[in-house]
Amino acid sequence: MNVVVDKLGPYDLGRIYQGDCLELMKAIPAGGVDIVMTSPPYNTLPKSATASGLHAERKSGKNLWMDKAAGSYFDSLPEDEYQRWMVEVFTDARRVAKGIVWINHKVRYRDGEAVHPARIFPFPIWCEVIWDRGGSMALNCRKFSPSHECILGFGRPHFWDNSVNMLMSVWRINHDRGADSHPCAYPLEIPRRPILASCPPGGIVLDPFAGSGTTGVACAKMGRRFLGFELDQKWVDLGNDRIKAQEKGMDVDELRAGQTSLLELIE
Ligand SMILES: C[S@@+](CC[C@H](N)C(=O)[O-])C[C@H]1O[C@@H](n2cnc3c(N)ncnc32)[C@H](O)[C@@H]1O
Repeated sequence: MNVVVDKLGPYDLGRIYQGDCLELMKAIPAGGVDIVMTSPPYNTLPKSATASGLHAERKSGKNLWMDKAAGSYFDSLPEDEYQRWMVEVFTDARRVAKGIVWINHKVRYRDGEAVHPARIFPFPIWCEVIWDRGGSMALNCRKFSPSHECILGFGRPHFWDNSVNMLMSVWRINHDRGADSHPCAYPLEIPRRPILASCPPGGIVLDPFAGSGTTGVACAKMGRRFLGFELDQKWVDLGNDRIKAQEKGMDVDELRAGQTSLLELIE
């Protein structure tokens, strides 16, 4: 008989907890979740608060990106420190996952050189997907303007649904969905496909950088259980509202996630 548990260690499933994922993951036993699906901070927040280029609000002198993105953490660590942190977090993510650890990341440029995410994470790669975002914010960069991100699957699958193989490995998904009040939310389709492919129905998905809860919404839609961690209380609240709304049968994907309270709409 399959016993469905709604708790994992000290955590209730189906929600996001506030805190540092590295600390919170310690309470998850080895192999406690099926897969990890996440998009970590990219270490790309501008160091200066001075308005410039596309990030500037006209005439206000305010850097909109900084304003929106900087919350409980500052996404501009020295690059070597950032990479060490990433490896530490995802080494532990691999400990808690039975199957694949999916990381959505992208090529960034430091001192004129590309830093490819595959060079940051020293783990065996099972699967690479290119997310074609269909456009670029960097049109004056003296190179083919970056318009893609990667979704790298590390480790080995403990479950794989072969019926999704025909989705192929280049996904054209416009970046106009998801929680538009979170500056770096991914579209729902990004976590949906890896979850469908590599997490068994009823299985548990962990998102250590849950942001506005898109991974949790995808799980609620697809009959998978979810656990999320997030540093910034503002996104914890928004994410938990979105997940609860989806669990109550609202199609969160169809709503602007920036609404003050999604739950007010259904209560
Ligand atoms: C790229 S965003 C994730 C967005 C998410 N996929 C969504 O769709 O909303 C990364 C998130 O990691 C959070 N974060 C940064 N450092 C963290 C840490 N140490 N522990 C947990 N969350 C952290 C940030 O606040 C941010 O919301």
